[in-house]
Amino acid sequence: MRITALFPLACAIVGFVLSMLCLFAGSKKNFMEDYNIITLNTSTLGHNILGSDDPSATTTASAAAATATSTADKIGDWFTDIKDNVTDTIEDEFNDLVADVADKLAQELGIRQWYSLHLLDMCEGYYKPNATAKGASKNITSCSNRTAMYDFDLNKVLNQQLEVGPLKINLSDINWPDDIQDGLDTLNVAFNAVFILYAIGIAAAGIAIIASLIAFFLHGSRLISFGNWGLASLSFISLLVASALVTYVMSKAVHIINKYGNDVGAYAYRGKKYLIITWVAVAVMFLASLAWVVEFFIGKRKQRREYTEKSHRSRGWGRSRKSDEAHLRRAGV
Ligand SMILES: *[C@@H]1O[C@H](CO)[C@@H](O)[C@H](O)[C@H]1NC(C)=O
Ligand SMILES: *[C@@H]1O[C@H](CO)[C@@H](O)[C@H](O)[C@H]1NC(C)=O
Ligand SMILES: *[C@@H]1O[C@H](CO)[C@@H](O)[C@H](O)[C@H]1NC(C)=O
Ligand SMILES: *[C@@H]1O[C@H](CO)[C@@H](O)[C@H](O)[C@H]1NC(C)=O
Ligand SMILES: *[C@@H]1O[C@H](CO)[C@@H](O)[C@H](O)[C@H]1NC(C)=O
Ligand SMILES: *[C@@H]1O[C@H](CO)[C@@H](O)[C@H](O)[C@H]1NC(C)=O
Repeated sequence: MRITALFPLACAIVGFVLSMLCLFAGSKKNFMEDYNIITLNTSTLGHNILGSDDPSATTTASAAAATATSTADKIGDWFTDIKDNVTDTIEDEFNDLVADVADKLAQELGIRQWYSLHLLDMCEGYYKPNATAKGASKNITSCSNRTAMYDFDLNKVLNQQLEVGPLKINLSDINWPDDIQDGLDTLNVAFNAVFILYAIGIAAAGIAIIASLIAFFLHGSRLISFGNWGLASLSFISLLVASALVTYVMSKAVHIINKYGNDVGAYAYRGKKYLIITWVAVAVMFLASLAWVVEFFIGKRKQRREYTEKSHRSRGWGRSRKSDEAHLRRAGV
C-alpha cells in the first residue's frame, strides 16, 4: 500500500470527471445547459428593421417600389400595429418600446430567443419569465442531435427558422452580417481539434486512475511512478491545450458576434462556468503530474539509502534482515 498514491489518484478522478463533463455538458436537453461555450441572445434580433424604418417611410417606399414591398410591409405592418397600441411614442422612448416587444419579437420572426453552443450540439429556446427580466433563466425548446465534430452553422439554423416563421423572411432581410458566420467557421475548425484533445485527455486520465490504483496496491517502483507521471502529464497537456484553445476561440467568437451582431440585435456571451470546469480539470491533472514527480524522486532517494545501508551492513556482518527487506521491497514491484 502506498498511501501517497491516493493524492494523484484523487486528482486523476476529478480531472477525468470534469473533462468528461466538458465534453458532454449540454449534450442532452436540460443536462448542464449553463455549461455552454457560447450563448447567443437573439431576443432583439431584427429590431433594427423596426428601428430604422419609420412606418410612414416604409409605406412610401413600398408604394414607390412595389417589388420590394413584401418584407418591409409585413414587418412594418406588424410594428405599426404595436405602435398604434402604444400611445404617444416619442423617439426617446423607442428603445423602451423595443424592450417591451423584445419578448414577442423572436416569436414573431419565428426564431428562438437564445441559442447555445456546446461541444457536441447546439440548444435553443426562450427565456423565462421573459428576455428582459433580471436573472432570466433559459427554457430549452430543443437541442440538435449529438454529433462529434458537427458544424455550428448558425446562418443555416436562423435562415430556416426565419423562412418558415410567420413573416417568411430570410437573413438578408434583417441585414445579418456575413462576418458572423465567417467568425464561427474558425470556431468549428478549432472545435474539431478541441474534441480530439479532450478525448486524449480523458483517455489518459482514465488510464492514470487505473495506474494510480496499481501504484497504490503494489509496492510502487520508480517505473510505476514514471509511467503514472507520463499518463498524468499527457492528460494535463492535452487538457491544457484544449482549454487554451476553447478560451481563445470563445473570446474571439464572442467578440466577432458582438462586433457585427449588436447592430442587428444579436448578443453573445462567454460560457464562464464552462471555463471554470475546464481549467479546474487542467489544474488537477497538473497536481497529479507534480505528485508523481515527487513520488519518483522520493522513491529514488529511498532506494539509494537502502542501497548504501545494504552495502554498509554486508561489509560488516553479511546480509542483515533489514537489508533483505529492503532488497525485497526494491525487487517486489
Ligand atoms: C393591438 O391591440 C389590439 C386590441 O387591443 C390587439 O387585438 C392586437 O393584437 C394588438 N396588436 C399587437 C401587435 O399587440
Ligand atoms: C418580464 O418579467 C418581469 C418579471 O416577471 C416583469 O416584471 C416584467 O414586466 C416583464 N417584462 C415584460 C416586457 O413582459
Ligand atoms: C438579451 O438581450 C437584450 C438586448 O440586449 C437584453 O435587453 C436582455 O437583457 C438580454 N437577456 C438576457 C437574458 O441576457
Ligand atoms: C418552457 O417550454 C415548454 C415547452 O418547451 C413550455 O411548455 C413551458 O410553458 C415553458 N415554460 C415557461 C416558463 O415559459
Ligand atoms: C436526429 O436524429 C433522428 C433519428 O435519430 C433523425 O430522425 C433526425 O432527423 C435527426 N435530426 C437532425 C437535425 O439531424
Ligand atoms: C432572401 O430572400 C430574397 C427574396 O425574398 C432572395 O432574393 C434572397 O436570395 C434570399 N436570401 C437568402 C440568403 O436566401
